[in-house]
Amino acid sequence: MPAEPQDAETTKPQRVVLGVAGGIAAYKAAELCRALIQRGFAVQVVMTAAAEEFIRPLTFAALTGRKVITGLFSSSSSEDTLSSAVEHIGVAQENDLLVVAPATADLLARFAHGLADDFLSTMYLAFTGPVVLAPAMNTNMWLHAATQANLEVLRARRHRIVEPEDGFLACGMVGPGRLADPEVIADAVAAELNRRRDLEGEVVLITAGPTQEPLDPVRFLSNRSSGKMGYALAAAAAERGARVILVSGPVQLPAPRNVKVVPVRTANEMRTEVFENLDSATIVIKAAAVADFHLANVPHQKIKKTAARLSLELDPTPDILAELGRNKRDFLLIGFAAETENLEGEAKRKLETKNCDMIVGNLVGGDDVGFESDQNEVALALRTGEFLKLPRASKRELADEILDHALNLRQGLSSKAHGR
Ligand code: PMT
Repeated sequence: MPAEPQDAETTKPQRVVLGVAGGIAAYKAAELCRALIQRGFAVQVVMTAAAEEFIRPLTFAALTGRKVITGLFSSSSSEDTLSSAVEHIGVAQENDLLVVAPATADLLARFAHGLADDFLSTMYLAFTGPVVLAPAMNTNMWLHAATQANLEVLRARRHRIVEPEDGFLACGMVGPGRLADPEVIADAVAAELNRRRDLEGEVVLITAGPTQEPLDPVRFLSNRSSGKMGYALAAAAAERGARVILVSGPVQLPAPRNVKVVPVRTANEMRTEVFENLDSATIVIKAAAVADFHLANVPHQKIKKTAARLSLELDPTPDILAELGRNKRDFLLIGFAAETENLEGEAKRKLETKNCDMIVGNLVGGDDVGFESDQNEVALALRTGEFLKLPRASKRELADEILDHALNLRQGLSSKAHGR
């Protein structure tokens, strides 16, 4: 029996959901199932109703030793029906990766558009881990603009597509559309899960959220940062095996798993904690929206509404990123730039003046990206001189992308070597 790939936190084997959709190639999913088990993964098979027309659940049950999930409400007793109504959530939470093979044109369309009309598509929406899709279909269906557009959507979500092979298809055509070799798909699954531990040995220091600069005991100056971008980076880095310290301004977010959160309020407190925790850091990421000005002498009593107009004289806060750049040792330094115009020019200028390895520039001011939103649209100014616009994606997906580029910089690779 081969050694089981272990989940470092739990020492249990890594868990994979194998989704099987209804296509002629469904029988090859049994070979894939065996290849995954041989690599030591614990496999839970989920079949669509159409898949059952091509291969019996019993085959997978015999291979995995587990009940195969075939429908949203497949149990017969009323109690079982209740628990099966939420089973897709449990399966989504318990498993480390979702692979679908064969992924039919219909399945790709349903995933791309977020339809949730059976167990597999519902579980997909609840699943937050990596997704591998191995399409198989007739050549014309594969080449159709609708299928290609759906693939673009799925690629933009950073799902790994194991391209079908060219060859003789069951429909009699010769061309692209044949399911990739099950061993190739199983290797892609293993690579995707391994990639997730590629930050082992790194210590990542991240700042997130706004700062609050008091004006008196009850008022403060702050900004719209929710902390979502910084927390997504912390969660991604921890999942990929890094030790993560998150210096966080006041936010309404739960602490990410396996992350040490150091709460702060003001820019000065953030500066103190960043330098206190800097010693072992190998990557420093400044996603926080630090106030640029504060009231140096905060009154002890509430400011009274005595005059028609109030003027406050503000002093600059410490520029933590610039100070890190001036005292740079062998850690990678990644700053953010929140701009309302001239993103490229400002990101490149901050890269130079703050002596960073990367500036993640984002346009702010709108409602659907940047501050508070779950999505972001960023461009990376790299010390290699490159300026890369990344497609709009969730902050969690972008966090992985930013970390991928950080590792490339560490290895002295240009982004072109970044093979996803
Ligand atoms: O928190 P969210 O709602 O998810 O929103 C994410 C975000 C928009 C806040 C984030 O993606 C972002 O852009 N963060 C940086 C915001 C910012 O302060 O940008 P800036 O251009 O003003 O600052 C440039 C860099 O210098 C930043 O890395 C900042 O952390 C740092 N800085 C700024 C001022 C200061 N006194 N000290 C600093 O270290």
